[in-house]
Amino acid sequence: MGTTKQNNTLPFQIVILLGITSFLTLNAVQHQPGHHHRRQGGVINKFMRPKLELKQCNIFQGQWVWDPSYPMYDSSKCPGIRKEFDCQKYGRPDKYYLKFRWQPDHCDLPRFDGVEFLKRMAGKKIMYVGDSLSLNNWQSLVCLLHAAVPNSNITQQQTIGGIKSWIFGDYGVSIISYPSNYLVDIESEQIGRVLKLNSLKDGNIWKDTDVLIFNTWLWWTVKGPKQSWDYIQDGTMILKDMNRMDAYRKALTTLANWVDSEIDPIKTRVFFQGTNPSHYNGQEWNATGVMDCSKETMPVKGSTYAGEVPPALEVVKQVLSTISKSIHLLDITTLSQLRKDGHPSSYNGFKGMDCTHWCVAGLPDIWNQLLYTCLFYISF
Ligand SMILES: *[C@@H]1O[C@H](CO)[C@@H](O)[C@H](O)[C@H]1NC(C)=O
Ligand SMILES: *[C@@H]1O[C@H](CO)[C@@H](O)[C@H](O)[C@H]1NC(C)=O
Repeated sequence: MGTTKQNNTLPFQIVILLGITSFLTLNAVQHQPGHHHRRQGGVINKFMRPKLELKQCNIFQGQWVWDPSYPMYDSSKCPGIRKEFDCQKYGRPDKYYLKFRWQPDHCDLPRFDGVEFLKRMAGKKIMYVGDSLSLNNWQSLVCLLHAAVPNSNITQQQTIGGIKSWIFGDYGVSIISYPSNYLVDIESEQIGRVLKLNSLKDGNIWKDTDVLIFNTWLWWTVKGPKQSWDYIQDGTMILKDMNRMDAYRKALTTLANWVDSEIDPIKTRVFFQGTNPSHYNGQEWNATGVMDCSKETMPVKGSTYAGEVPPALEVVKQVLSTISKSIHLLDITTLSQLRKDGHPSSYNGFKGMDCTHWCVAGLPDIWNQLLYTCLFYISF
């Protein structure tokens, strides 16, 4: 992709001032007592008492609300959306799934403002570390930001290890995707490939960032030819296999301990993205006998989902609450479970049925709106 220079650059101080002013304005609107700005088409407002301030509100609990002003950008204008996620390009006929806003029960989310994001993150690096769902999440953020400053100086980079970056040159902001299916290491040794539950060598690279968003689960259950290791190392023990949930817990513990000992919480904000749900079992949304998401065009109504809370999420919550004070959970599981309509199904570049990843534009934009809210509106 070519690079163009934004020529209407304001002097640095003015940019900062504008940034601060618009932040205050947004905050003021947000916290005005009795100010409800639920948009037209929303559900009946059953919460008549004043909204909570964002920091006291569980932003992950709520429901999906039809909003004609969505999506937040036109996916056909975002250059190079990966073929796994570009549902409209690969012929998805319906657009309802693009038109839902996340409405927390007791507060309103701030609008995602890409320019504001870039100004406040000036000079910083934001890195998504994890499996292909991290890539999905990263893809959404770069599109959201591109839509805000389409004519600014944007450079794309990719290294041999599959690390992808978009650099917003006018702001000095880098948005990085760092692929790591397990977060902990896999090393080739004489006996074969060893998954090392206690080792996190890539951490030395991750440390040098300002925002880290971790995610891993998808690969922990994989067995057979697609399994990417031959042995597990747990401490000094080398095992052929073990209970996968136990292994997951040990790896997360390694991560949490690493964050506590190596990350300076003043410099780097650390998030863990909650377990990603798939939709291959219609029983979870009252469609008995349905085995994929191919016919789904609407979210589940309301705020509860019939399917179970993924056991992996319980493990994440336990590890984060007992060990690390500085990893913040982005608890997107339930709100994503409600989005049986948000997957590519067969509308992707390889035509396989995919009810695990998500269309971009789509649900990951709301994940990033929630990240934005946590970064700028909630201190913890
Ligand atoms: C665009 O940004 C890149 C990366 O920050 C920088 O190296 C380059 O000089 C910039 N190009 C222009 C035309 O400003
Ligand atoms: C599922 O179907 C039952 C029986 O028709 C109904 O009572 C229930 O409300 C439905 N649940 C959802 C989540 O639609």
